[in-house]
Amino acid sequence: MTDSPKHFDLIVIGAGPGGYVAAIRAAQLGLNVACVESRATLGGTCLNVGCIPSKALLQSSEAFSHVSHKIAEHGIKVSGATFDLKKMLGRKNDIVTGLTRGIEGLFKKNKVTWLKGRGSFVDAHTVAVSAGGKATNYTAKNFIIATGSEPVELKAIAPFDGETIVSSTEALEFDQVPDHLVVVGAGVIGLELGSVWLRLGAKVTVIEALDRILPPMDGMVSAAMQKILAKQGFNFLLGCKLQSAKKSGKSLKIQYDQAGKSEEIKADRMLVAVGRRPLTAGLDLAKAGVTLSQSGRVDIDAHFRTKIPHIYAIGDVVDGPMLAHKAEDEGVAAAEIIAGKAGHVNYEAIPNVVYTWPEVASVGLTEEQCKTKNLAIRTGQFPFLANGRARCLGDTDGFVKIIADEKTDRLLGCHIVGPTASELIAEVAVAFEFGASAEDLARSCHAHPTLAEAIKEAAMGVEKRTIHM
Ligand code: NAI
Repeated sequence: MTDSPKHFDLIVIGAGPGGYVAAIRAAQLGLNVACVESRATLGGTCLNVGCIPSKALLQSSEAFSHVSHKIAEHGIKVSGATFDLKKMLGRKNDIVTGLTRGIEGLFKKNKVTWLKGRGSFVDAHTVAVSAGGKATNYTAKNFIIATGSEPVELKAIAPFDGETIVSSTEALEFDQVPDHLVVVGAGVIGLELGSVWLRLGAKVTVIEALDRILPPMDGMVSAAMQKILAKQGFNFLLGCKLQSAKKSGKSLKIQYDQAGKSEEIKADRMLVAVGRRPLTAGLDLAKAGVTLSQSGRVDIDAHFRTKIPHIYAIGDVVDGPMLAHKAEDEGVAAAEIIAGKAGHVNYEAIPNVVYTWPEVASVGLTEEQCKTKNLAIRTGQFPFLANGRARCLGDTDGFVKIIADEKTDRLLGCHIVGPTASELIAEVAVAFEFGASAEDLARSCHAHPTLAEAIKEAAMGVEKRTIHM
């Protein structure tokens, strides 16, 4: 670090998917770039303790579940399948190491300087990077704040202790399968990590304050997923609010309110997954003149500029969905704007995925949002039960739902519950990007037999002309 230059065209603070992508793009465009990161590895929450390790465990646990429960229908006999949790966690860690080292390689290739340590503003043109009790000042023409988010802690009633009451980070590392895992929050993290431990043999109870799971999703998706996941073994306590969680020996006594009545359950681990909040503590934003909104996110304009024109912010730390791919696209756009180009993000075409099995994926508006906006719509649906490829896979749970404008037929929303929904949604996101109509999707030739045909059929359903239903 001592040999690093002290002045850059751009300093990015945070090397998550927003920050590292912004740094690489800016370097590609000829800027002299540094990226400040205090974690021992690059990639931020997503690569280290979020998207990637959770997907690794979801894959392993789904493979075990498939062998244990589904393989027999293919006429394949496997008895007494077991798993080695240590090896499973090791595989996950190896994947994380490979990918984070990959980002380090990309930094070297693109000549991005990694400033190792915690960054904080000294003034609007200077950042101090602290590591091992020493701080070094660096200056830059431009800055991008990309410090991400951290799990919300229910400090007053159930503070994290890193072992029994945990956030998603520790729930990726349990050294044995819990007997009973209580998850607080039926959102993305609760359902994904709940799925991992349920498949590996834990009893999983989810306490959710609202009366449905995956609350921001289309109502049809929430209802279908509740049924499907309950069938898999999830126990949902909906409309229930956590009151307290107390350690009693090796177990936890968990109290929650259900319609005004206090109930109690016991568990050995509790995952609190009630959202994430922007991470700005310790940045000394005030010293740079950067302001926060009422919700604690960094205030920016439509071009990612804070109140200070040469300081930008992107990703979880600013408004919008807390999604790695949203942060990446903002990183590219901000870097391009700084380099004098016209960077832009189309917020109407950002897909959203839940990696349960079946997966959930959506883009655009839900039917409820269309109603709130008084939009006249037509919808088309198609179940995977009527899709040949889904039958061959033995994965027929779920459907595709397409929402289109009643008059113009322009696509407004697409909601998929089904196998590999995360991959299927890409086609629809591209269609959104091109301002496509439902008819455009319906008239595009889809290979047969594929799961994607369900998208075509749902689009045909908008005109009530599905063939296979
Ligand atoms: P979330 O916002 O998805 O869900 C939180 C849930 O907790 C909501 O259903 C809410 O009603 C409930 N809740 C809040 N307070 C509660 C209380 N006191 N008692 C009971 N229930 C309560 O948050 P989550 O799952 O923690 O995820 C955080 C962020 O991380 C999300 O913004 C998500 O987009 C992102 N993420 C995305 C992933 C993906 O794209 N696959 C994977 C993991 C996280």
